[in-house]
Amino acid sequence: MSTVIRPYRPENSEELDALYAICLRTGDHGADASARYADPRLLGEVYAGPYAALEPELVFVAEDGEGVCGYVLGTGDSEAFAARCERLWWPPLRRRYPLPDPEDDSDSAHVVRRIHAGAPLELPFLGSHPAHLHIDLLPRGQGHGLGRRLMERFVAALRERGVPGLHLGVSALNPRAIAFYRRFGFETLQAHPWGEWMGLRLTPPQPAAVSSAG
Ligand SMILES: CC(C)(COP(=O)(O)OP(=O)(O)OC[C@H]1O[C@@H](n2cnc3c(N)ncnc32)[C@H](O)[C@@H]1OP(=O)(O)O)[C@@H](O)C(=O)NCCC(=O)NCCS
Repeated sequence: MSTVIRPYRPENSEELDALYAICLRTGDHGADASARYADPRLLGEVYAGPYAALEPELVFVAEDGEGVCGYVLGTGDSEAFAARCERLWWPPLRRRYPLPDPEDDSDSAHVVRRIHAGAPLELPFLGSHPAHLHIDLLPRGQGHGLGRRLMERFVAALRERGVPGLHLGVSALNPRAIAFYRRFGFETLQAHPWGEWMGLRLTPPQPAAVSSAG
């Protein structure tokens, strides 16, 4: 079976499990984070679950003969999405994952603090680049053009909604992803010691050329 890019199927619970598993397998700056988290669902609860639950129409998956091997997911409006997460997604998670000891410097503790902090909203480029995304492929799916195909599908969906631009955060420890985004046309919006915020403007589609024979 050749690999297809298709919409996420929220009615199939195995599909959500696949998103969470891929999130963990790529969660260490693009590499496998399984050894870093005792709870294998923790990363997915932050970086995959809210999108699948609250914005399923903007989740697309890559599926090959072995199953789902990658996804792109995100939102067209980061501020509105953060407000919905604050209302619907974070409260039960905060009860399930209490704040860790302030001395706890583990990866899990950082993610749990992220759950309690909510989403950062002070980004100055949200007006021009209101959308954001996460894209992850299992190793078997990487390097075959699937990242580009997923990204094109996601960008087309944003354009249909009239979204003017898209941002994402990428770790300095993930130069491969930075090169991929640059190749796709993303530019640096802000550089930080941890990595960078990158952005892509989505110009409206050009009107169809008028036929000179008409
Ligand atoms: C980053 C990732 C999404 C890229 O997807 P991919 O399928 O491997 O990339 P593609 O094969 O679609 O490459 C698309 C383009 O980017 C270019 N590219 C990809 N990796 C590159 C690299 N390291 N250096 C230069 N160019 C690169 C390709 O040459 C290709 O160019 P072309 O379309 O003009 O021929 C994927 O490798 C991945 O999921 N990695 C692990 C998880 C991860 O790091 N996610 C991002 C977290 S911010």
